Amino acid sequence: MIEVKPRVFVFDAYGTLFDVHAAIARHRAVAGADADRFSEIWRIKQLEYSWVLTLAGQYVDFWSLTERALDYALARVPSVDRALRPKLLDAYRELDAFPDARLAVESLKARGARAAILSNGSPAMLDAAVAAAHMAELFDAVLSVDAVRMYKPRPEVYALVTSRFQITPQEVAFVSSNRWDVMGAAAFGFRPFWINRAKMPDEYFEHAPLQVLSELSALTSIGA
Ligand code: 2OP
Repeated sequence: MIEVKPRVFVFDAYGTLFDVHAAIARHRAVAGADADRFSEIWRIKQLEYSWVLTLAGQYVDFWSLTERALDYALARVPSVDRALRPKLLDAYRELDAFPDARLAVESLKARGARAAILSNGSPAMLDAAVAAAHMAELFDAVLSVDAVRMYKPRPEVYALVTSRFQITPQEVAFVSSNRWDVMGAAAFGFRPFWINRAKMPDEYFEHAPLQVLSELSALTSIGA
């Protein structure tokens, strides 16, 4: 069998290129002892809202879901001062990129691959995050679920990539640290790579990643 080499490397944004826990990290001293639990609740509620709305055939943009999830987390963890709300949202708009993100995308581009983002994020939040990380010039496309008004892992979302680049799913290397996103990408026919920084247990066994990598920089060993 002739192996089809990936022509486009597509990255998930939140959790993969950008650290979703960087917002609380900037305010950890004020947030107090429950900071990590608070940040976990914020993230999981943001995702839960995206899945539930999509299952119900509804859509609310990801920035609004981020705000609603933050309000839920503030209600669930009252030890975190509500006065942090605007500061946490400002920090979320300009999350830190993981330290190896820029170099990993740069080296793939230097080898002739194209690079893109496919994210739940609304176009405005993605623009802000990519600009803050000084990565805008590296991406051939920044694709948002907003175009189809449904969230990952719906196949319509992954199809934004194949229609934008006019390629087959097998020509796409899809990179995500979210195991459920890797599942969706695998089901669509992409070549999925799971960035498992936190050494989480595997799941969704029928839809396995092609490779599990501990960091984005390990991608440079994959043929482009
Ligand atoms: C993203 O689509 C899933 O939050 C993740 O960027």
